[in-house]
Amino acid sequence: MVTGTKLPHGTARFYRLRGTRIPKSAKPVASAGIPATEHTGRRGLCDTSNGPMSARIIDGKAVAQQIESEVSSAIATLGFRPGLVAVRVGNDPASEIYVRNKAKKARELGLEGTELVFPETMSEAELLAEVARLNHDDGIDGILVQLPLPKHIDSRKVIDAISPAKDVDGFHPISVGMLHLGRSTLAPCTPAGVIRLIEWTGEAIDGKHAVVIGRSDIVGKPMASLLLARNATVTICHSKTRDLAAVARQADILVAAIGRPILVTADFVKPGAIVIDVGMNRVGSEFAAQIAHDSDKARLLEKNGSVLLGDVDYARVRDLASWITPVPGGVGPMTIAMLMKNTVTAAERRRA
Ligand code: GUN
Repeated sequence: MVTGTKLPHGTARFYRLRGTRIPKSAKPVASAGIPATEHTGRRGLCDTSNGPMSARIIDGKAVAQQIESEVSSAIATLGFRPGLVAVRVGNDPASEIYVRNKAKKARELGLEGTELVFPETMSEAELLAEVARLNHDDGIDGILVQLPLPKHIDSRKVIDAISPAKDVDGFHPISVGMLHLGRSTLAPCTPAGVIRLIEWTGEAIDGKHAVVIGRSDIVGKPMASLLLARNATVTICHSKTRDLAAVARQADILVAAIGRPILVTADFVKPGAIVIDVGMNRVGSEFAAQIAHDSDKARLLEKNGSVLLGDVDYARVRDLASWITPVPGGVGPMTIAMLMKNTVTAAERRRA
């Protein structure tokens, strides 16, 4: 029986081995530069640094590189450079980094990547006019407007104005509707990346119980649609969910996308579950006591004065899960990689 308390190491190992269901015939498969582990015959790195046995780590950097090489090959076949424009309004520091990185990665992979930066004072009408201009520019295949926008601009109006054919974020209501119907569309990058990470483990999604914590338009809702389209039984949890830990504990696949540092502790996790952490929360010394058990994170906090935490208490959950994504280096690298993939797909569809 699974209880809310942390299992001793020996017990966890027993559950994990039962949970992984490795066929006797399975052969080690090396992929994306990740060596197959001899003892499991599966991809992934076993983290044994902090205990006798741990979940295998889903290496988001390696999977993202795999997608990036798919993108470069597809561009070589296309024979032209797909155009991606990343629009930023104002000086939100996180947005500055994201938008710059998106345009830079696009250029690295052979796309035409452009960063368009406008002042905080730009009016809604001016931004809508800019979006209309980009919609009509035949050299541009993908448009993304980085969110959040300044308060005086209605982000819904701006998203609605982007041509669905160029909506590489997958945020337009037509894209969302198509996704909800299980029809082919450009899917939001972060949840699409999560699907690729789960597929990379070699574990089936079909028939599994997937619990998504978080109901944002960017991650939680599209994540649920993508899992449902792959025949998972899907539960979406949110701030009003009663006994969140008990619901989460039913998950074979647990996706944490709430934006609350280390909310998902060991009592949220069924032994053998696949745990995907979408959270990226930068915290300071106020978290020192809460991460004292995690020597790696505690050291980083001590050294830098801040540390990046996921929504999952990685140091505790890794002793229970069969597979887990780290933060950083898990879901994060996938978002930009999937944006590049969506831009190439948009170019192929629009210019075919
Ligand atoms: N803000 C946070 N995540 C995203 C994203 O994936 N796309 C855009 N456009 N804005 C964001």
